[in-house]
Amino acid sequence: MFIKQIARVVGVFALLSAMCAHAQFAKPEDAIKYRKAAMTIMNTHFARIAAMAQGKIPFDAKVAQDNEEVFATVSKLPWSAFGEGTDKGDTKAKAEIWSDQAKFKAAQDKLLAESLKLNAAVKTGKLDDLNVAFKGVGAACKGCHDGFKDK
Ligand code: HEC
Repeated sequence: MFIKQIARVVGVFALLSAMCAHAQFAKPEDAIKYRKAAMTIMNTHFARIAAMAQGKIPFDAKVAQDNEEVFATVSKLPWSAFGEGTDKGDTKAKAEIWSDQAKFKAAQDKLLAESLKLNAAVKTGKLDDLNVAFKGVGAACKGCHDGFKDK
């Protein structure tokens, strides 16, 4: 009985810390690592979709959907990790992120908007739709990197 209760309490704490992980980081380095990891995962799943859209690998609607699902979730994660004090360290983030926050936010919103179009495109199961939507997302990545990420 007692053990079960402890297990439940520990489970709740684990869940809570997972939920808060995006909101606060113990150290700036942790936030930097987190956002870079999120970008890397986002990139991996987007690259699979892009390869299909460009005919580099065979088109499989189910695989496209699975990758889009991960992409859609992970692409929401990096942004809360650009908090105060995370402008220095092992990072390519430009100072403009903090000096022009409205523009940085607009670039995030652009990605979200294009990501919703990608979601609609993978649902039609048509390669032509995917091809259009993937370009939109790619432009949103590039648009932000051009202004806010060092080479
Ligand atoms: C709103 C701005 C923004 C958008 C949109 C954006 N990125 Fe980034 N990305 C950044 C910034 C800033 C960095 C640098 C982060 C750092 O070094 O702390 C970065 C870094 C990266 C990295 C390098 C990660 C590493 O380990 O150093 C990859 C890969 C990446 N982005 C891929 C993508 C892809 C793919 C997309 C689109 C699907 C995308 N990004 C959209 C801002 C953005």
